[in-house]
Amino acid sequence: MSVIILVFVFQISFCCFKIESSAFEHTLFEDPVQSLASDFGFEDNFNNSLKVEEKKNHQNRIVASRDPPPVPPLPPRKASYTPSNPLPTTNSMRQSLFSSQAGQREYLIKHRLGKKEKEYVDIVTFRFFTGTWNVNGQSPDSGLEPWLCSDSEPPDLYAIGFQELDLSKEAFFYMDSAKEHTWIEAVERGLHPKAKYKRVQIIRLVGMMLVVYVKKSLKNHIREVDAQHVGTGVLGKMGNKGGVGVRFVFHNTSFCIVNSHLAAHVEDFERRNQDYKDICARMTFDVLDQPPLSIVKHDVVIWLGDLNYRLFISDSAEIKQHIAMGELRKLQEVDQLNIQRQTKRAFTDFMEGEINFIPTYKYDPKTDRWDSSGKCRNPAWCDRILWRGNNVKQLRYQSHMELQTSDHKPVSSLFSIGVKVVNESRHKKVFEEIVRAMDRLENEFLPSVSLSRREFTFENVKFRQLQKESFQITNDGQVPCHFAFIAKLNDAQYCKPWLRADPSNGFLEPNETLEIYLDVYVSKDSVTLLNSGEDTIEDILVLHLDRGKDYFITISGNYLPSCFGTSLETLCRMKKPIREIPITKLIDLVNFLLVDGASTEDKPLKIPKEVWILVNHLFTKSCDQEDLFQTPGLQEELQSIIDCLDTSIPDSLCILNIQWVRKVFRPL
Ligand SMILES: *[C@@H]1O[C@H](CO)[C@@H](O)[C@H](O)[C@H]1NC(C)=O
Ligand SMILES: *[C@@H]1O[C@H](CO)[C@@H](O)[C@H](O)[C@H]1NC(C)=O
Ligand SMILES: *[C@@H]1O[C@H](CO)[C@@H](O)[C@H](O)[C@H]1NC(C)=O
Ligand SMILES: *[C@@H]1O[C@H](CO)[C@@H](O)[C@H](O)[C@H]1NC(C)=O
Repeated sequence: MSVIILVFVFQISFCCFKIESSAFEHTLFEDPVQSLASDFGFEDNFNNSLKVEEKKNHQNRIVASRDPPPVPPLPPRKASYTPSNPLPTTNSMRQSLFSSQAGQREYLIKHRLGKKEKEYVDIVTFRFFTGTWNVNGQSPDSGLEPWLCSDSEPPDLYAIGFQELDLSKEAFFYMDSAKEHTWIEAVERGLHPKAKYKRVQIIRLVGMMLVVYVKKSLKNHIREVDAQHVGTGVLGKMGNKGGVGVRFVFHNTSFCIVNSHLAAHVEDFERRNQDYKDICARMTFDVLDQPPLSIVKHDVVIWLGDLNYRLFISDSAEIKQHIAMGELRKLQEVDQLNIQRQTKRAFTDFMEGEINFIPTYKYDPKTDRWDSSGKCRNPAWCDRILWRGNNVKQLRYQSHMELQTSDHKPVSSLFSIGVKVVNESRHKKVFEEIVRAMDRLENEFLPSVSLSRREFTFENVKFRQLQKESFQITNDGQVPCHFAFIAKLNDAQYCKPWLRADPSNGFLEPNETLEIYLDVYVSKDSVTLLNSGEDTIEDILVLHLDRGKDYFITISGNYLPSCFGTSLETLCRMKKPIREIPITKLIDLVNFLLVDGASTEDKPLKIPKEVWILVNHLFTKSCDQEDLFQTPGLQEELQSIIDCLDTSIPDSLCILNIQWVRKVFRPL
């Protein structure tokens, strides 16, 4: 029955304590951070390396497999590439700066080093001889000096490409070629006598062969050599057409040389365009610790070969007439390759020097006479040398009529190429500057807040009496930040049940300040433990910043126990108001009940004195009250009733007339 009374008391107009759960919009920053991202050039640089085509298909390899050609010692080659630094997939500065992956920081440093290249790179020029010859399956029948030594000064590098080196079935089906060796010997005999050369790399696919030499004195500056081939012939795969490529790094400039033999026949210029695109798409190089590199990823690309582009004039006599009159320009206007380049259908970004030599195709072998065979092919500039890249200057572009072995004449281009040479001491200096700048930046970009207060004391906390304190949180960092109170280890909530922080999380722009309220309110859920002394007004709040540190806020205070929330049995053991009982005694009183069969000298009261007072009061004073139990009570009155019950029960009440109480409750 006494339970009923207490329940009734609790019903008296509880003011509702409500925490507004504010919804914080997770508005993403559009801010200096984004614009910094483009300063760092992520958009133009992080993209491409991801798109490089996966290793070319297996079939192509099978077609081309053969014993490896003799090669000079090379850096060890990885079988397959595994990216050690996964590249960022978004352009967000935040991710790049703050990701725990050190690889991204490394990537950023590399990028900035690239941008400051001028400060530590010297450009040193080297002479680079490149040549191409379709030898029509013939063997060398004269020295190659007129072609390879056409300059009085020895070049620093040679890249020499052949097509139709070997037209035998063996070369096509078994990848075996006797011709390879005889031509290599002829080439090496024909290299410039004023310098000694070392072979860098050789690669052959059926009749296409490419060989690169470097002056012996420079060989230590050649690194990261790789060679690849792509067949685009029969079935789109076979090696009768296609390209072979050699890449390497010379000093600090990367080179890629491609020798290709594109589709034949006058009208098949689109097929040639396609072959070019296929080679670009399918030829990728493997270099230690780097993603697969496509042709255009190199600083300098030189593309030579029998590109097989013809003239858009079908009348052979007209062509020959123009040639005889020296009107090469007129013919170049109808040159298929020029037109494909102008209309951006192939070799779009490549340069070609002016052609001041007559077409190199097609002659009667061993003569300088135009083709007199039944097919009577029209003359054309099938054999070409193009390039792309900075600091490349063409010194000479010519054909070599002296060499009559084939139905094509060899072509050569002598380049003067400005090569990057890193000055190591300046490089180190720039590198260290960048690292320091990045450290600074990262520190500045760490989120940071300041709190106006970190210690709070709540005095004389009472049941159902709200106490409020507040403090300001200010974003004193450079970046927007997100904060949240977080639970301590092993806790489910960030604070005790009688405490609330409002708001408990949110975003702050730089320089923005927010007021955070700390509410202490002991409700019926938390009152019992506080009453018994098992809980106290002590807590530590952890305010956590995303990507930043934690801030600690300490809460202390004292609590005034109340009969509310104390069990009826405990109240029966209290002969005095609860506030007059020391905390230690309170704990004993509660725990006593848990000890089975224990008893005290003092007999407990039959009913709690607090209940008796309430009922007595109602019975004696309030019977005439209109709408008793229906009109909600006033909060203030309720508070004073609670205070009264907790502090000032007259001793005399302890002698209760139980009979009387029974009388009172019977009607209920
Ligand atoms: C980067 O990739 C995006 C999406 O694939 C594309 O829209 C953008 O043009 C690319 N940027 C560059 C520089 O390639
Ligand atoms: C430049 O090239 C040299 C070798 O020629 C190499 O040792 C060095 O690491 C390279 N430096 C850079 C920054 O690539
Ligand atoms: C590197 O640059 C510094 C400063 O310009 C110069 O004194 C030094 O000789 C250079 N070192 C080399 C190896 O070129
Ligand atoms: C923040 O305030 C300081 C001082 O008033 C000012 O110098 C700074 O530029 C402000 N920062 C931002 C991001 O608004």
